[in-house]
Amino acid sequence: ALNNVQAYRASLLHFHADPAFHGEAHAWHEDGLLVVEDGRIKAAGDHAALASTLPAGVTPLDYRGQVITPGFIDTHLHYPQTDMIASPAPGLLPWLETYTFPTERRFDDPAHARATAEFFLDELLRCGTTTAIVYCTVHPQSVDAFFEASEARNLRMVAGKVLMDRHCPDFLRDVQGGVGSSADLIAKWHKRGRQLYAITPRFAPTSTDAQLRATAELAQAWPDTFIQTHVSENKDECKWVGELHPQARSYLDVYERFGLMRPRALFGHCIWLDDEDFARMAATGSAAAVCPTSNLFLGSGLFDFEKADGARTLLSLGTDVGAGTSFSMLQTMNEAYKVARLKGSYLPAVRMFYLATLGAARAMGLEGTIGSFAPGAEADFIVLDPKSTPLLARRTAHCDSLEELLFALALLGDDRAVKATYSAGRQVHARA
Ligand code: GUN
Ligand code: ZN
Repeated sequence: ALNNVQAYRASLLHFHADPAFHGEAHAWHEDGLLVVEDGRIKAAGDHAALASTLPAGVTPLDYRGQVITPGFIDTHLHYPQTDMIASPAPGLLPWLETYTFPTERRFDDPAHARATAEFFLDELLRCGTTTAIVYCTVHPQSVDAFFEASEARNLRMVAGKVLMDRHCPDFLRDVQGGVGSSADLIAKWHKRGRQLYAITPRFAPTSTDAQLRATAELAQAWPDTFIQTHVSENKDECKWVGELHPQARSYLDVYERFGLMRPRALFGHCIWLDDEDFARMAATGSAAAVCPTSNLFLGSGLFDFEKADGARTLLSLGTDVGAGTSFSMLQTMNEAYKVARLKGSYLPAVRMFYLATLGAARAMGLEGTIGSFAPGAEADFIVLDPKSTPLLARRTAHCDSLEELLFALALLGDDRAVKATYSAGRQVHARA
């Protein structure tokens, strides 16, 4: 057992509650020690208290001056869109037509899919993201390629095949069988090692009623899978859904009527939801994936954190690459902060770090497994360097509070701030 224990000395930050609603939500150990055994967290606390508990011969790795937090969790992004990131368009629907669908077409080729998945995973780990909820394409081979790449690295990843059988090009259309092949992929990948499956209807306009009905049946047959889709991102999209489903109270209500709202259902964007929608999100245990870099890039709108928090909706942050413009959750926090300001609300940095770690784990029903340093949790963690750039070093040389330090990291940091990334106790990225 001695060989399986590792220890890391650094400042430690993690959460046990949501700082928006609880005074003592985080744990901060300025001179801390993180103890890992067999790929899981054994202890996290003050170095002075824990150093003497280490087995003889175990010397902590010295990361003093750095901050160790749980690995970031990105709850919404598209690996096939990696190569089309930063493609300009006047809005969501023309962006899908012009760039997205032609790009996704290439994922019928397993070699292209595998190579893109490898680059994508490298990029996530460089940015300190250890878990992501990922859209593949309609091609089942795009899902196999992604999970094969993730499994080979023993990462905790969630992914699924896009379901889409109307209002899309023929070359991306499920011709029956879309739900059936999703079932086959669940049987093959869900809970195999650290892989988890997300049932993935792209969004209401691209599925027939028959496909949405069959999708909900699949979700009922596999209640511990995830569901992911898009909702209320763009005004033209909302208008279109209103025309396609005139009987529904709202865009979100289309999903509820088909039985697609439940715990572990992640809804991307949620910009134009009303109070009743947010109340339904909370009541059903569904969660929002808030994607600020994407929403600003496409001009979709500003997420209303105050309205969402008023209903106690489960929240998390997503990059939404390739409509999102960065793989970095630090840069995603930066833009989330500004979106909140423009909506007249305020997101403290501690809240943003919560949303990117424990908040996401709670939204996913994975508290105790990822997102914190609770004993027994998987040892997915990152080492953040407050001196990683000249400007960050100059700014963080005089922080008067933890909030100031985290705020500087979120506003000024990116992949350069991630000195190392660990997954299940194994180093999977180290900055040169
Ligand atoms: N709505 C439907 N598909 C997509 C997509 O690929 N990206 C974004 N941002 N919104 C969508
Ligand atoms: Zn998306």
